[in-house]
Amino acid sequence: MDQVDLIWQNGDFVRWEDAQVHVLSHGLHYGTGVFEGIRCYETERGPAIFRHRDHLARLERSASLYYLELPYSAEELRAATHELLRRNGLKSCYIRPLAFRGYGEMGLYAKSAPIEMIIAVWPWGAYLGDEGKRKGIRAKVSSWRRIGPGGLIPHAKASGQYLNSILAKTESANAGYEEAILLDERGFVCEGSGENIFVIRDGEVVTPPHVASILDGISRKSVIQIARDLGYTVVERDIARAELYLAEEVFLIGTAAELVPVREIDDHPLGEGKPGEITTHIQAKFEDALYGRAEEYLEWLDFVEAPAEVDAPSKVTP
Ligand SMILES: Cc1ncc(COP(=O)(O)O)c(C=O)c1O
Repeated sequence: MDQVDLIWQNGDFVRWEDAQVHVLSHGLHYGTGVFEGIRCYETERGPAIFRHRDHLARLERSASLYYLELPYSAEELRAATHELLRRNGLKSCYIRPLAFRGYGEMGLYAKSAPIEMIIAVWPWGAYLGDEGKRKGIRAKVSSWRRIGPGGLIPHAKASGQYLNSILAKTESANAGYEEAILLDERGFVCEGSGENIFVIRDGEVVTPPHVASILDGISRKSVIQIARDLGYTVVERDIARAELYLAEEVFLIGTAAELVPVREIDDHPLGEGKPGEITTHIQAKFEDALYGRAEEYLEWLDFVEAPAEVDAPSKVTP
């Protein structure tokens, strides 16, 4: 990881190496945490966080679904993130807020274990690589099925749930692929291990509906709007596994990975084995939105104001 100076922890700005937790923290044992993955981009008008309020609203929803009461409001977390970016002198980075049940009580009904929060920021390149974004990646349908609503909450971004994604990702990486695609219990397509999926069929942009066993991605929502604005027909429906192989184009999209074309699935080349026209068209507009180059999507950006001229006294804890 590219280390920076400070991490925000429970209201204080602490040095990166001092941001510690107790080994008996509840979240470490049972996965009782919720988090977000957000990105800040360097734009002409300064650093801007993409759909920051939407991410914080999802954090609040994830927390509430798992009965975790966040000790800070979304507005407090937003202000802390702005300050953290300023203090670390970052213009673009990945942002990871995390809330978890901390140290104080063990067992599964540990109501008295406090909820702790951190926000970490660090420079992080495209999750599936810049080359993947340009040339497309190879993906494999996982033998692991995506968690379903009968046992967990696909719509929550909760720490423990990621064991499912990790199994799928590990299997695909060990087999030499860049990403896994998970199906649901019925065998319909859900998403990548950390991205939503879009399939182009007969010129239409198709994606599983938001009620599928997927994380209702914020990039997914953005791309649905962008694709419609560009004049494409977007359809939310179940996607059969075979459609992955028959598709003209497929792409994955998420905050960490951004928009990544898929050029091969289970050794079936897609289209001409390189990113297709519709994918490239949508990708270009999406990147314009991220970097503040698209006037019509400027409202998605949360601009981080430059630091005040006079240095505030440092609140770093020793
Ligand atoms: C399982 C999963 N699906 C989809 C996404 C994409 O969501 P978003 O666009 O909000 O980052 C992510 C990333 O957060 C994810 O972890």
